[in-house]
Amino acid sequence: MLAKVLTVALVGLDAHLIDVEVDIAGGLPQFSVVGLPDATVRESRDRVRSALKNTGFHFPAKKITVNLAPADVKKEGAGLDLAMAIGILVAEEVIPAERLDRFVLVGELSLDGQIKPVSGALSIGIACRDDYRLLLPAENCREAAMVEGVAAYPLRTLPEAVAFLRGTLTLDPVRPDRARFFEARPPEDDDYGDVRGQDQAKRALEVAAAGGHNVLMVGPPGSGKTMLAKRLPTILPLMALDEAIETTRVHSIAALLPADRPLVTVRPFRSPHHSISDAGLIGGGTVPRPGEVSLAHNGVLFLDESPEFRRPVLDGLRQPLEEGAVTLTRVSGSLRYPARFMLIAAMNPCPCGYYGDRSRECICTPQQIRRYRARLSGPLQDRIDIHIEVPPVPVRELHDQGPAPEPSAMIRKRVLEARERQAGRYRQEGIHTNAQLKPRHVKRYCGLDRAGQDLLEQAMTRLGLSARAHGRILRVARTIADLAGAESLEPVHVAEAIQYRSLDRRLDV
Ligand SMILES: Nc1ncnc2c1ncn2[C@@H]1O[C@H](COP(=O)(O)OP(=O)(O)O)[C@@H](O)[C@H]1O
Ligand SMILES: [Mg+2]
Repeated sequence: MLAKVLTVALVGLDAHLIDVEVDIAGGLPQFSVVGLPDATVRESRDRVRSALKNTGFHFPAKKITVNLAPADVKKEGAGLDLAMAIGILVAEEVIPAERLDRFVLVGELSLDGQIKPVSGALSIGIACRDDYRLLLPAENCREAAMVEGVAAYPLRTLPEAVAFLRGTLTLDPVRPDRARFFEARPPEDDDYGDVRGQDQAKRALEVAAAGGHNVLMVGPPGSGKTMLAKRLPTILPLMALDEAIETTRVHSIAALLPADRPLVTVRPFRSPHHSISDAGLIGGGTVPRPGEVSLAHNGVLFLDESPEFRRPVLDGLRQPLEEGAVTLTRVSGSLRYPARFMLIAAMNPCPCGYYGDRSRECICTPQQIRRYRARLSGPLQDRIDIHIEVPPVPVRELHDQGPAPEPSAMIRKRVLEARERQAGRYRQEGIHTNAQLKPRHVKRYCGLDRAGQDLLEQAMTRLGLSARAHGRILRVARTIADLAGAESLEPVHVAEAIQYRSLDRRLDV
């Protein structure tokens, strides 16, 4: 008899519905899978056979053919096991075929018939909402049910699945309280209230957060660069539900979602080591996985010791920085993962780390310093509006008992107001922040009065700034004005923005 069971296959972030057709015919015992299965899917045969036998079901010694349709979708991973096992039982008339109506079955089987969790449950939920009922590993149910209109029934073992489908076991769909998950933000351990001194760096990060500008931090080891960068998500606007769902999908596909936290509600902070491969940073691999740029989607990507990253890896950042997404080309077609993030790159001022530090002597030659800084040029420097110098805070200030530094929540309030001003102004333009202003927008929205023009021209000549720096200064000045609630750009806004181009002028050490 021919049986048909629905399951899903993940392609990039999307789950596609797949028909598992099982045909059992007389003839020599054989078990074959056709329809573009990859190696892991072909291994399903052994798991399915053992799981059925070890839980007391009859495994037919006949010719079994499993066809996965549509044939042009590449099927990967072990999540198809459950549908194949159930398909065999339907073909053997252990389960009545009509009971399978509108059910989608997903799960990996262990040899003893346990049903093990899969990745991408949120995407599976999105593919199955409204029209289908999902039978899923219990661990995945809350995540899938974060999507409105999803009925997700929790499974632990193969016999449980069979009993439920035969109508001898009742299961209730999981109904998580979505709103509650969203409101109950986990307490954040990190806060700018912990950072002593560093007022200029904190101000610059506030400007960056307000306008969505990428940042380069330059400072010796131990000066607090990592500490400052890590706290940036705490002053960005809270995630909206649709942002949380997008980011969760990426984390879920990468199997990074803890079972008790089915929704990513805090903006991610990703800090890959400089030894990372381009597949690790951008995404890819034989079984494709989202890279760090996508895991940072809607959050912050921090590249510590950025000149140490390999050049092809840094070059790979060009596409996500421009398009907010990455496209991975593969033999079986191309995949697209979202990758919109704020970039913070950090570097030492020179190879030894102590150039410009009063407490230690720098041992680098000017040529070494120039070569070190030049490594960042190109893909990254082109996209970075704000440079921050992070000098070490004197020990005396670290132990200061004076007034506590301003907490993140207060900074975030100002950031939000500035963002609202930008959103209002750019409603017609299809952009949200000053960092997204194209040259024609800069002309329209960043006009200067006479005094402002004079100031900027003088700075350009005196500091030897490039034409490229010109546009960046204006965009950042626009953000500074938005933080101040000012309609037009004033010289004081321009003056502050000029300070954030320190590396341009110091490159010729
Ligand atoms: N301004 C500061 N206020 C409080 N602690 C600081 C400050 N600067 C540095 N520290 C302490 O020094 C440690 C090292 O800072 P870190 O951010 O790792 O420096 P970097 O990344 O620049 O090498 C931090 O974990 C923190 O404990
Ligand atoms: Mg560090």
